Amino acid sequence: MLRFLFFFLFFLSPSPTLGLNQEGLYLLSVKHSLDDPGSALSNWNDRHENPCSWFGISCDSSLSVYSVDLSNTNIAGTFPSLLCNLPNITFISLYNNSINSTLPSDISICKNLQHLDLAQNLLTGALPPTFADLSELRYLDLTGNNFSGDIPQTFGRFQKLEVLSLVYNLLDGAIPPFLGNISTLKMLNLSYNPFTPGKIPPELGNLTGLEVLWLTDCNLVGEIPDSLGRLKSLKDLDLAINNLHGPIPSSLVELSSVVQIELYNNSLSGELPRGMSNLTALRLLDVSMNQLSGTIPEELCSLQLESLNLYENRFEGSLPASIANSPGLYELRLFGNRLSGDLPRNLGKNSPLQWVDVSNNLFSGGIPATLCEKGALEELLMIYNSFTGEIPASLGECNSLTRVRLGHNKLSGEVPAGLWGLPHVYLLELAENYFSGQIAKTIAGAANLSLLMITKNNFTGAIPEEIGWVESLVELSGSNNRLSGSLPQSIVNLRQLDTLDLHNNELSGELPSGVESWKKLNELNLANNDISGKIPDEIGKLSVLNYLDLSGNRFSGKVPFGLQNLKLNLLNLSDNHLSGDLPPLFAKEMYKNSFLGNRGLCGSLEGLCDNRAEAKSQGYIWLLRCIFILAGLVFTVGVVWFYLKYRNFKKAKRAIDKSKWTLMSFHKLGFSEYEILDCLDEDNVIGSGASGKVYKVVLSNGEAVAVKKLWGGIKKELDSGDVEKGRVVEDDGFEAEVDTLGKIRHKNIVKLWCCCTTRDCKLLVYEYMPNGSLGNLLHSSKGGLLDWPTRYKIALDAAEGLSYLHHDCVPPIVHRDVKSNNILLDGDFGARVADFGVAKVVDAAGKGPKSMSAIAGSCGYIAPEYAYTLRVNEKSDIYSFGVVILELVTGRLPIDPEFGEKDLVKWVCTTLDQKGVDHVVDSKLDPCHKEEICKVLNVGLLCTSPLPINRPSMRRVVKMLQEVGTEIHPRIASKDGKLSPYYYEDASDQGSVA
Ligand SMILES: *[C@@H]1O[C@H](CO)[C@@H](O)[C@H](O)[C@H]1NC(C)=O
Ligand SMILES: *[C@@H]1O[C@H](CO)[C@@H](O)[C@H](O)[C@H]1NC(C)=O
Repeated sequence: MLRFLFFFLFFLSPSPTLGLNQEGLYLLSVKHSLDDPGSALSNWNDRHENPCSWFGISCDSSLSVYSVDLSNTNIAGTFPSLLCNLPNITFISLYNNSINSTLPSDISICKNLQHLDLAQNLLTGALPPTFADLSELRYLDLTGNNFSGDIPQTFGRFQKLEVLSLVYNLLDGAIPPFLGNISTLKMLNLSYNPFTPGKIPPELGNLTGLEVLWLTDCNLVGEIPDSLGRLKSLKDLDLAINNLHGPIPSSLVELSSVVQIELYNNSLSGELPRGMSNLTALRLLDVSMNQLSGTIPEELCSLQLESLNLYENRFEGSLPASIANSPGLYELRLFGNRLSGDLPRNLGKNSPLQWVDVSNNLFSGGIPATLCEKGALEELLMIYNSFTGEIPASLGECNSLTRVRLGHNKLSGEVPAGLWGLPHVYLLELAENYFSGQIAKTIAGAANLSLLMITKNNFTGAIPEEIGWVESLVELSGSNNRLSGSLPQSIVNLRQLDTLDLHNNELSGELPSGVESWKKLNELNLANNDISGKIPDEIGKLSVLNYLDLSGNRFSGKVPFGLQNLKLNLLNLSDNHLSGDLPPLFAKEMYKNSFLGNRGLCGSLEGLCDNRAEAKSQGYIWLLRCIFILAGLVFTVGVVWFYLKYRNFKKAKRAIDKSKWTLMSFHKLGFSEYEILDCLDEDNVIGSGASGKVYKVVLSNGEAVAVKKLWGGIKKELDSGDVEKGRVVEDDGFEAEVDTLGKIRHKNIVKLWCCCTTRDCKLLVYEYMPNGSLGNLLHSSKGGLLDWPTRYKIALDAAEGLSYLHHDCVPPIVHRDVKSNNILLDGDFGARVADFGVAKVVDAAGKGPKSMSAIAGSCGYIAPEYAYTLRVNEKSDIYSFGVVILELVTGRLPIDPEFGEKDLVKWVCTTLDQKGVDHVVDSKLDPCHKEEICKVLNVGLLCTSPLPINRPSMRRVVKMLQEVGTEIHPRIASKDGKLSPYYYEDASDQGSVA
């Protein structure tokens, strides 16, 4: 095969001069077999006698090629097996290119190979078992490809292999014990593969030369074997993001060379092992996100730790004072435990602390003054504790700070003037403390400050004119203080401002002029102050304003006409001194509450203010009402009479056709098909989709049902009135399919009561869902009705319905058109999955190419792999369901012109990356649910993973969603082993309004 390929390529290539040697000819053929868009191989040509001067080629003293390094060159195509014809080649690197074939099964012909680096390519297929026959191979890196299947049994036989890296592939099967036979191994790296759940093979303890054992996210279960303590050369132990249980084995304290231990995101319990003072080389310990308990052992502090991450466990007691003696400690993350007592008084005196996060604990006492002694402190996060006293003045001089969150403590006194104006701080949060004094003029120096949150304190005095210098300011939240004076004129210079919330203060004076420069202002809340003067008409030019609350002030004059231009979610101008006419748009009952309590607006809209002034006219109005009611009665009686007449007439007409109907019923029916046929009137239509019209029919027993009338005809191309792609419904098998669907009974699946058919029409009778579809509700103006608890419940319900279809039906059922419009809501907003219009029963035997011929799904919901496989399976349903979750979290449509080329999934990903989670979450949702929302968002992102294999099963999705509800943290992290973006950005901001 190889030889054939060679001749083939040889004859195709331009005839070489006689000068070029055989190795050069081989390499030219390699060049011609590859796609080289960047012309990296442009100096590979036949104007040389040998290839030794060519790009990427190295020769030995006899001018024979021993190394080919084409890393990072953008080359693409099949793996160039011809390289193995170079007799002395020992080194091949094609790292980070687009090699997209399988590897040849006779890879062993590269018999002198010592180093093979094919990482970051697009290789597929199985790992060739013959790798192990490369008796000289020392380095094998296949990271970041799409290899699948098992690790071959032969891999236990490598003779000299030192490095084996298979990270980020699609390997399944379990991690095999025979890897423990490769006694030469120094680095074993198998992270991020979808292995089937299995234990860490104890045999790995035999690899006594091992320096790096990296098994992140490998689906490991069970306990950490004691035998790992035998790895005396181990420097890096990383078992993070698995499902490991039980204690951390005490044998691990025998890892005398270990520099870093990462066990985060497992389910480990018990205490930290004693004897850790033996780990003299240890620099980094990360056991966060487990269920470890007990105290933080004093002996840990005798180590030369640089990074200590114990967050989100159940540690209690106080932090050993000796931690302050760690000379290298720069990262200390302890948030989300039950730690109490004071922080060591000289914490930071000897340590170059950079990141300190002790949020969500029970710490009390003062903030140590030495935290920034070494001048390196960047993040200081202490929210949700009981710290008391003042902020030490030294923090006001800590120029390295970027993020300061001291909210929800019992801190008091004045904030050091310097802290207001630190040049690199972008987030300063002091909310819910007892701080007093003024916002200092030094704030002028806060060149990067974008979020200033000081709500619920005792701040007093005027907001300084210098606030206008803080040009990056996006949010100023200072409600519930005692700020006074007028808003400084300079505040209109804040062009980035998105939220200005100063309600419940003592502000007075007039609004500054020039507010139209707040081009990005979204929320303006100045309620309950003492502000007077006119509401400037320019306010109508703030095109993105959607929350305007100026209630409870002394504004006078007219309601600006310009307000009509805005798309406001909230408008509250009540309790002011406004007068004159209401702008026509607002002179309606539904806006009444926005204007209550303005004496001067009386008369424009009845009942706007108290009615004393109108008492005189009451008599008149009463008479008018009587006349109206009488007229109305007469009219109604007339209409009813006419309707009854008309109905009888129709009934008579229709009775003729009835005999042709056949009925298939799946549940005990309390009605007859005739009753339904009688009610299929155009005025009962409640919806119309691609597959037919839906009618609401109220039966004689008072119950309502929904009747779907499918457009008749065989293999009819259906209309695509909405966003759905044209779908083809095949008629054959319809009854069998409906039969299956009719038998499904689950609380989260819309019941199919029965099905009636004639030659040219089919009726499906479903239970009636009074609140309609999730899509309609969520994306209408009533989206605000769906608060977070409701949305969460809907997600969980729908997930349970789909999980039932996938896992509990035999054969399993793929819905094929999961979308928010197919999730219906009952009277209590319980969700049920509906419309199996294109669902097909998955044939276990895999026959049924027919079922693959129909394009299924709706735009914005279609999984990316569908574009090339045209195959629909459970994983595509899970993708679509992920999109539904994203809709629930963002409140946005799956495709929206605002996203440009992107769909919702891409929009969420890029927005998360670029702007953070706050720009993704629906602003209508109460921020107090942020933590939960973020977790559900993460489930949505997992479901919409581009690779089907990375999507969790529906059963797993249900489990993850349930865990969110019970406040157990779902164990999710992004692939780089770092916490996912929201977690990373705001790991400790639980429950706070960020
Ligand atoms: C592999 O890459 C080559 C060169 O870019 C391309 O022509 C070919 O279609 C790719 N094959 C696959 C299966 O993607
Ligand atoms: C290169 O390979 C040739 C042919 O196999 C062999 O004769 C020669 O000794 C090798 N050179 C080196 C430096 O290994």
